[in-house]
Amino acid sequence: MVLLYYNNLISFGLLAASFASAAPLSVHDSKKQPDNCAPVHLFVARGTSESPGDGSIGSLAQLVLQENPEATQEAIDYPAAPFPFYITDVSIGIKAVTNQFMHYTSLCPNSTLVFIGYSQGAQIMLDALCGSGGPLKGGTGSPTITKSQGKNIAAVVGYGDPGHVAGESWDQGTAKADGIFARPAGACNAWANNIHSYCDAGDPYCAGGSNQTIHLQYTHKYNSAASQWVNGQIVSASA
Ligand SMILES: *[C@@H]1O[C@H](CO)[C@@H](O)[C@H](O)[C@H]1NC(C)=O
Ligand SMILES: *[C@@H]1O[C@H](CO)[C@@H](O)[C@H](O)[C@H]1NC(C)=O
Repeated sequence: MVLLYYNNLISFGLLAASFASAAPLSVHDSKKQPDNCAPVHLFVARGTSESPGDGSIGSLAQLVLQENPEATQEAIDYPAAPFPFYITDVSIGIKAVTNQFMHYTSLCPNSTLVFIGYSQGAQIMLDALCGSGGPLKGGTGSPTITKSQGKNIAAVVGYGDPGHVAGESWDQGTAKADGIFARPAGACNAWANNIHSYCDAGDPYCAGGSNQTIHLQYTHKYNSAASQWVNGQIVSASA
């Protein structure tokens, strides 16, 4: 017991020290030199009505950060409000994802990138990369980040994405139906090897179901599998 306690203290100390020495880049400080860029940077988009910050899917981001102690992260800054603001906020969110991505890559063109989004947060990220169902579905219709601009995006994890399309090769989970804001089939083909989109049958938003509880269980059910997949993608991208 005592030994375990001291071991934990020591590893906590080491972890804190490595975070400090990594001197994470502030993306708002354009005077920082590229050698302050983190090798891995995460963008995290919370779900509808969650408080500003990472939201519940921050638990997945934390698992990835634990495996990659020099990695940094930033939350997507968007309103994430529910109906009747949802459609407007998806548009704002797509722009926020795009602008934050463009800003970071202009400073750090060689960092490996990871996108992590839950619910509305998954929709804005995947709409930015793949295009959306069109203006009525809150989107621009076409991608705002091209595959060549996003060549360093190693992994994209969506949980409960309302833009979910059933039967895609990147789908994970048990869903057999489309989400309420489904994008066109194949819209994400360019990113097929980079996306894991988790959606379970019964989810009202990503799978046309009616069970709210399903929409709240993704971190609990899939964080372990998703973080392992992300870490594998990071390793391949850095090889
Ligand atoms: C990014 O990588 C390229 C190719 O290895 C290199 O020439 C360039 O200097 C790097 N840029 C930065 C900002 O590190
Ligand atoms: C909703 O899903 C939860 C979690 O899978 C399950 O325990 C519950 O029985 C479901 N509720 C209904 C009404 O099907």
